[in-house]
Amino acid sequence: METYSKIKIYYFTGTGNSQTVARWVEKVATEKKMDCGIINIADIESFPVENPEPGALLIFVSPVHGFNYPPVMLQFLSHFPKGKNKVILMNTRAGMLIGKWVTPGLSGIAFYLSAFILKSKGYSIQGMLPVDLPSNWMSLHPGLNKPTVLFLHEKMKAKVAAIAGKVLDGKKSFTALREIVQDLAVSPISLLYYLIGRFVLAKTFYASAACNNCGACIKKCPVKAIIWVDEKPFWKLTCESCMRCMSNCPHKAIETAHGFIILVAVLFHLGILGLLNAFGADFITSLNPLFYELIIQSVLFLGLLAICYRAMHLLKRFRWFEKMLVYTSLTHYRFWGNRYRSLGVGGKGKAVSF
Ligand SMILES: Cc1cc2nc3c(=O)[nH]c(=O)nc-3n(C[C@H](O)[C@H](O)[C@H](O)COP(=O)(O)O)c2cc1C
Repeated sequence: METYSKIKIYYFTGTGNSQTVARWVEKVATEKKMDCGIINIADIESFPVENPEPGALLIFVSPVHGFNYPPVMLQFLSHFPKGKNKVILMNTRAGMLIGKWVTPGLSGIAFYLSAFILKSKGYSIQGMLPVDLPSNWMSLHPGLNKPTVLFLHEKMKAKVAAIAGKVLDGKKSFTALREIVQDLAVSPISLLYYLIGRFVLAKTFYASAACNNCGACIKKCPVKAIIWVDEKPFWKLTCESCMRCMSNCPHKAIETAHGFIILVAVLFHLGILGLLNAFGADFITSLNPLFYELIIQSVLFLGLLAICYRAMHLLKRFRWFEKMLVYTSLTHYRFWGNRYRSLGVGGKGKAVSF
């Protein structure tokens, strides 16, 4: 069995889980007296990336977004130079807790697609390792409470230390393959998320009146997707919904506009689909129903959403409108609104800062 003299870890993170895993692995490597470098891919300014040293073990760590690696990680892998190194793929995903039972997240096609990209560049995949840390998807579900967050960190820290010990000693580990059936079953959803869902989510964020224009969200966004528009933060379609902005806002001013998105969906169904049904939808459907339902409707919905988002951003300056927006955002309410940041390598309840 081969041991490695050099380890290089590349990670992307929104709220710190993947960074924490990268640091846990780095700690194990350092204890084994291995030379370990760690790179946040959001800090890489331009491609091509430096060629990896021959013989070094490469480890990629990323959250799962929509049953896949997020686009920023997939683009990074696509631009990664060719090589013959051995590679370990890791992801962090939505762990939850029922009693003392950790319910696992779902990786979907994250490992298979990234393994395919790297294999086609000449790399040899040695491991596919999911890590179930607390879910950070506050737009979708209430934030987890502190005991759950602590429990999951403790449990996963031990798990990562054990598995890192083995793979750094040259053993292969493909624990992800145990879930191949459910992973492949959700692959159509991962495609829909990549093509449509992520753009919809990007347009659900807004800064409420609690925002004092400190610009922390803009500075800390790992993909530079937040800009000033009319002197307020504005989310571009390139947003990865990584939750960094929402979790870090010192005024808890960033919310998910649940009410707004429902309103746009209603407008779309009553207005755009109504018009289409009256004029010509039958003709397009008779030619190709899938094309009509998937492509045409999605493009029209995203177009309407982009226009409505701009209008919402303008109207937000009126107090009555802003209040309506806030009161229809679940993230505003105490029962839902815990923001999430990983506890980092130290654990013990202190969240990482970016
Ligand atoms: C937009 C979005 C989509 C997500 N999709 C999935 C998913 O498909 N499967 C899953 O297990 N977890 C999913 N999660 C949860 C995150 O992958 C998980 O909390 C991860 O550990 C966050 O890592 P980070 O702190 O490094 O960003 C999603 C989270 C977000 C924000």
